[in-house]
Amino acid sequence: MNTTGTLPRVAVIGAGYLGLTHAVCMADLGHEVLAIDVDSQKIAKAAAGEAPFFEPALEPLLRKNVEAGRLRFTTSFADVGHFGDVHFVCVGTPQADGGAADLSYLHAASDALAPHLSSPCLIVGKSTVPVGTARALLARIRGAAPAGDDVDLAWNPEFLREGHAVQDSLTPDRFVFGVTSEQAVQLLRQVYARPLALDIPALVMDLETAELVKVSANAFLATKISFINAMAEVCETTGADVVRLAEALGHDERIGRKFLGPGLGFGGGCLPKDIRGFRATAAALGVDSVASLLGTVDAINMSRRERVVVMAREAVGGSLAGKRTTVLGIAFKPNSDDIRDSPSLDICGRLATEGAIVSVHDPVAMPNAARIRPDLQYAASVFEAAKGADLILHLTDWADYRAIDPAALAMVVAQRAVIDARCGLDAGVWQNAGWSVRVLGRP
Ligand SMILES: NC(=O)c1ccc[n+]([C@@H]2O[C@H](COP(=O)([O-])OP(=O)(O)OC[C@H]3O[C@@H](n4cnc5c(N)ncnc54)[C@H](O)[C@@H]3O)[C@@H](O)[C@H]2O)c1
Repeated sequence: MNTTGTLPRVAVIGAGYLGLTHAVCMADLGHEVLAIDVDSQKIAKAAAGEAPFFEPALEPLLRKNVEAGRLRFTTSFADVGHFGDVHFVCVGTPQADGGAADLSYLHAASDALAPHLSSPCLIVGKSTVPVGTARALLARIRGAAPAGDDVDLAWNPEFLREGHAVQDSLTPDRFVFGVTSEQAVQLLRQVYARPLALDIPALVMDLETAELVKVSANAFLATKISFINAMAEVCETTGADVVRLAEALGHDERIGRKFLGPGLGFGGGCLPKDIRGFRATAAALGVDSVASLLGTVDAINMSRRERVVVMAREAVGGSLAGKRTTVLGIAFKPNSDDIRDSPSLDICGRLATEGAIVSVHDPVAMPNAARIRPDLQYAASVFEAAKGADLILHLTDWADYRAIDPAALAMVVAQRAVIDARCGLDAGVWQNAGWSVRVLGRP
């Protein structure tokens, strides 16, 4: 293992949202990086300096580091095995049937890599996994690697947010190093030397605690979102205003403002599957308190989607059949083209099931959505999407939508009715332009 003064050579396994961002950032820190993915199209695109997904600030940095020769891509595990002093594992851990995490990609990647590990190296898991995964993975890899016990393993969970991925990777709030040896800590300190010089704390702990930090952070954030959305239900039935409530709560430093935005709730490739995975783990461990807490958090979150459909039905006079609905925003959140478990896409499906004609606009996520929901109508502009609409639904809070001129939009719709499920539009301005405005969580 390289614990000398020279920079360790960094391999990244899995070049998706997390892995590609990590590879680019590692290269930008000055490391020589080789990234691998089983998706050869993704690898070809990345090698040409093109990001295979939308992430602000990523593509210029990718191109810069590819051109500088610091960042290369491959589909060969033999190349990666021989190259890396440190192997960051960033493959997907999606939700399996029943809610638990599907570790098959992790096992496939480690099984493909292990036979090529013939000299001392450190495997560093970044994927989000159930507690206990890392230690079992270490035994599995050592059993198959020619280097045997000279292969070490650490868990360094990732906290990046899509839409802010580069900044979050380069300057996270903290590093978490789950380790079994001091040598692993030294190597991780070498890899992250530049950000660590900025006084970002590195918290060293055992493997199990490191795995738990990630899933419990996501469980806490999801709980906070579902808490304010449960309060939104109370507000809707009492005439109170959840936006003002959240604002007032957030001023309390013990509570804080972040993740207290009322609305349609969370989606995406992480929070929903991570809380379901953690729930399954807790149930298997017999920790019913966590399992039932997370079950409630998930149920509150999903109920917001149904609430929007109920509001849509009410807004068009009782039945959605044949009604023209326009959905603004399809990505699971703004500044991303990720549609995994997108609340908006889920609602589009529910509207279509009830017979509505669904026309959609999103600044970047429409190609991804069209691949799995070709039945929806995709429009190049908000105005085109809204032509003849009986109802507009604001479901992803892109800045572009906050800037819409409601008076101009009123000229193209059939009915001036809007549901703001993200509490992002200026209701007063829309009402002044003659719109009937319903805001999720507001009376
Ligand atoms: N996306 C995020 O914001 C984020 C943040 C923190 C943690 N995570 C975690 O990171 C992990 C990856 O998430 P993601 O969003 O990047 O997923 P992703 O689906 O975008 O990327 C996963 C990549 O792994 C590749 N892959 C699958 N099997 C492979 C194999 N055997 N060998 C090599 N590559 C393989 C896939 O082709 C894909 O490109 C998950 O555990 C997720 O929970 C994601």
